[in-house]
Amino acid sequence: MTSPIDVAALKRDFAIFDKKMRGGKQLVYLDSGATSQKPRQVLDAERFFYENNNAAVHRGAHLLAEEANEAYEGARQIVADFIGAGADETIFTKSATESLNLIAYSFGNSKPGSKFHLKAGDRIVVSEMEHHANLIPWQQLAKRTGAELVWFEITEEGRLDLSKIADVINKKTKIVAITHQSNVLGTINPIQEITQAAKKVGAVVVLDACQSAPHFQIDVKELGIDFLAFSGHKALGPTGVGICWGKGEHLSEMEPFLTGGSMIETVTMTDATWAPAPRKFEAGVPNMAQAVGLAAALNYLSKIGMDRVAEHDALLTEYALSKLVALPGVSVIGPQNGLDRGAVVSFTIDGIHPHDVGQALDGNGIAVRTGHHCAWPLMRKLNLVGTTRASFYIYNDLQDIDILVQSIGEAQKFFGVL
Ligand code: ALA
Repeated sequence: MTSPIDVAALKRDFAIFDKKMRGGKQLVYLDSGATSQKPRQVLDAERFFYENNNAAVHRGAHLLAEEANEAYEGARQIVADFIGAGADETIFTKSATESLNLIAYSFGNSKPGSKFHLKAGDRIVVSEMEHHANLIPWQQLAKRTGAELVWFEITEEGRLDLSKIADVINKKTKIVAITHQSNVLGTINPIQEITQAAKKVGAVVVLDACQSAPHFQIDVKELGIDFLAFSGHKALGPTGVGICWGKGEHLSEMEPFLTGGSMIETVTMTDATWAPAPRKFEAGVPNMAQAVGLAAALNYLSKIGMDRVAEHDALLTEYALSKLVALPGVSVIGPQNGLDRGAVVSFTIDGIHPHDVGQALDGNGIAVRTGHHCAWPLMRKLNLVGTTRASFYIYNDLQDIDILVQSIGEAQKFFGVL
């Protein structure tokens, strides 16, 4: 099987691949799970905005303000189309972490009688495979409200254990906050099964799409979810911009998270009322250039086609798994084949600490992530101090994986563990 993406041609859009790494080596970037590289189209879009349209949106009456509004609201429409949502339901934040905090704090701010009000006896459901961004906001909300935090465990294979789904998502459950794809295990979770269980008991589903939205087609309606969060910087976009999507009927009932300029309808010295969503959730001058950059990134991905992105990812993931699973002294963490598995492969090497693995690979120009991957409870569950994680994207090819595999062998020889 060959990739539907011409990686060599595409890589010319990414100046960073011209950079020489230690010892003059070429960059093998296998850390897109942490952040993706940016094509020049994204950098150009940001530069164009600053050089031609820069003004504070939703404020001025001048030409630049009008153009900035158009660029910013145009970017919102592009993001909304990318996830099958309405523009009025699509909120710009500074990061996916802020998006998840927005939802959690908004629920925490809701008054008795609101469907989002939580109290002792209510239940919030997460899973053992959440990264900290989709765990700690819910832990804190549980502490503030007296609600109980419960979680799905993982199976030995590294999948969600849904065998007791009706016990975990029960009548007490108000929120189910779950990752679409684990940033450590690569597991893609069966979201529709979870949303069905949540709907039966009237709970809302918050989907953390940080690892999925950049890699395969997302349609919020098809998934049947209530909220979604993802970050721009993992999807070829700039840092400093995240997306929070929520169903319109929810957003109109929800309390704001951050307050200040732009998110108000009327203000007196002692009180204020809120503008409708999405502005209710966008206090202050927003990240305009970053929003425009993200729109350029999503256009770039859409031009390739998310089906092709997914096919390319699957090819690389299958290839990496087949090679790594066969290596002596190497253990792949999570599902061992490509079924319902995204472009993230974590592994350990007998006798070498992940940080030493990372350093050894760096010597060959390979960038991977090592450590607990902001998923400390999962590491504890797996009884590991950390892993080495290779994550793939549109600018990787099979040769990158060959270099990784060869470098692992060299590291094993260097550390005397083969
Ligand atoms: N959550 C990001 C990662 O998995 C930062 O690396």
